Amino acid sequence: MTQTTVQLPQTHAQRTATPRHYLMCPPTYFDVVYAINPWMDPTSPVDTAKALAQWEALRAAYEARGHRVDVIEPEPGLPDMVYAANGGIVVGGRALAARFTFPERAAEGPAYDRWFDTAPASAYRRLGEAVETMEGEGDLLLVGKVLLAGTGFRTTLAAHVEVAERLELAAQGIELVPLELVDPRYYHLDTALSVLDDGAVSGETVVAYHPEAFSPAAQETLRGLFPDAILVGADDAAVLGLNVVSDGLHVFLSERARDYADALKERGFVPVGIDLSEIFKGGGSVKCCTLELRPDTTTHDVPALTGTALATTVLAGAVLADAAAAATEETQR
Ligand code: ARG
Repeated sequence: MTQTTVQLPQTHAQRTATPRHYLMCPPTYFDVVYAINPWMDPTSPVDTAKALAQWEALRAAYEARGHRVDVIEPEPGLPDMVYAANGGIVVGGRALAARFTFPERAAEGPAYDRWFDTAPASAYRRLGEAVETMEGEGDLLLVGKVLLAGTGFRTTLAAHVEVAERLELAAQGIELVPLELVDPRYYHLDTALSVLDDGAVSGETVVAYHPEAFSPAAQETLRGLFPDAILVGADDAAVLGLNVVSDGLHVFLSERARDYADALKERGFVPVGIDLSEIFKGGGSVKCCTLELRPDTTTHDVPALTGTALATTVLAGAVLADAAAAATEETQR
């Protein structure tokens, strides 16, 4: 009689997807006509139709897993508006619009701010634009009760103070932790660090980052906060592999980040590979295209359990489909 031994992955918490609300902007006017980060080369052509198709696939990938995606109207003359993550930061139902570093992107702040006055944004309180230089979720990443705040290239320390005040972080029990970025290729925090699991459901907080993108002091801060973080190497960082969106189970990331995808599987996540090769030419990937909108959960009397139960029901099918796909992919290797 033959015996089959199944190699179980390294022990980890049970991952659960929870439904999210995202804001995205189609790359209708996307182009690379100026260079404000080392990835941008205005002499290399951009295929806008291809960018649109790739962007649609990302949006469909979110919707297929039960997430709500709203879309902001793109504006001509704002080729970087596709990077919705930079439009602002929305925590606890409070929406603060960005103030951009470079004049090329300045008009995006007011555009995103105006969106918070529209019907699909009714669950969010519009706070207006930041006074200090602040590039939204490009530099501000929420991990449970910690708001990681990048600085060094774009968002300033003064902006961190403004964000803490205007989003009333202390009242929400959220602590802001500044992190200094030092490599110009990783000019936004979301190019150097991924938030994978805030621990709300699983009890285990998981982030991933590329240590060399951070100052020695920031590296020490990260080691202290997240001793079990996934450390991502130079190759996966250089395809902007860290620029991911996670719903707690599915991690939407560049299909080029192979080792990182394997590490995610080992920790119980389901990587969903996305091809954004055109949008990459502007120096961004999955996360850059996605602004997460977080409603104020304290004022709604929706018990937390309902949310989780609902998430489980809505997403169970998608999870099973993903598990089957992952198994198939595994056997094809
Ligand atoms: N070209 C844009 C810039 O340099 C890319 C922004 C990418 N967005 C992001 N969240 N990292 O500002």
